[in-house]
Amino acid sequence: MSVEVLFATDKHVGYAEEITIAMAVAAKERGTGIAKRSPEYVMSKMTEGKAVIALDNKKFAGFCYIETWGHGKYVANSGLIVLPEYRKSGLARKIKEKIFELSRTKFPESKIFGITTSLAVMKINSELGYKPVTFSELTTDETFWKGCQSCTNYDILTRTNRSLCLCTGMIYDPEKEKAKSKNERKSLADRWTQFKEFMFSRKAKKQELLKGEEKKESSYDTNSVLVK
Ligand SMILES: CC(C)(COP(=O)(O)OP(=O)(O)OC[C@H]1O[C@@H](n2cnc3c(N)ncnc32)[C@H](O)[C@@H]1OP(=O)(O)O)[C@@H](O)C(=O)NCCC(=O)NCCS
Repeated sequence: MSVEVLFATDKHVGYAEEITIAMAVAAKERGTGIAKRSPEYVMSKMTEGKAVIALDNKKFAGFCYIETWGHGKYVANSGLIVLPEYRKSGLARKIKEKIFELSRTKFPESKIFGITTSLAVMKINSELGYKPVTFSELTTDETFWKGCQSCTNYDILTRTNRSLCLCTGMIYDPEKEKAKSKNERKSLADRWTQFKEFMFSRKAKKQELLKGEEKKESSYDTNSVLVK
């Protein structure tokens, strides 16, 4: 099995129906519900360059796409699906890595978020730098939350005033990541300065010692000259 993970284009629209069927079957199996997508919607994601598709030669194996919310302040990597025969071999991880890369390139300032009940997705998200958050940290865009209406657990979401549900919210905040890597860089710079100071003081001590040795040697020479 040699599965390729590609940025989807208009060349892949022929797979749209198969993708939506696979999503619906998986949602039914899990019984947790999923926002319904039409083949036309999936096609639009492909033509807009906002999707990733996994193909085993020409056979469809997996898919994921990007959605933007709150006027681009937020981005979600949604609709992740891997066909049962390709599961547990790291394909979802590869797809998520690719769609994350695409999201960071297309929307570098946006926060990337997701809501999920899937342990596999939580695991992959954590590896990518997502942190678990309460729903209050996610987009307030009504259209996003409307997507939950087709989920079987929608009553829980409404009952709790959209504060919690069975899904866990996770977010990747590029600002926080920038600050983190700046601190890491800073501590690296600090360590480098400390190292330089240490080397400088060691050199100074060595020079002092050498001077002392030279003095000893020259007084020895003087003595020896004197003796002669
Ligand atoms: C969830 C799904 C995408 C995972 O796909 P996959 O290709 O099997 O996942 P991977 O092989 O890349 O696994 C990634 C990690 O998750 C773990 N994992 C995979 N399936 C898991 C499961 N059902 N329960 C717990 N952990 C799981 C793997 O062991 C792996 O971790 P590891 O590297 O530490 O061993 C796939 O099962 C699927 O399509 N399910 C139906 C649709 C769905 O639930 N989509 C997510 C909507 S948010």
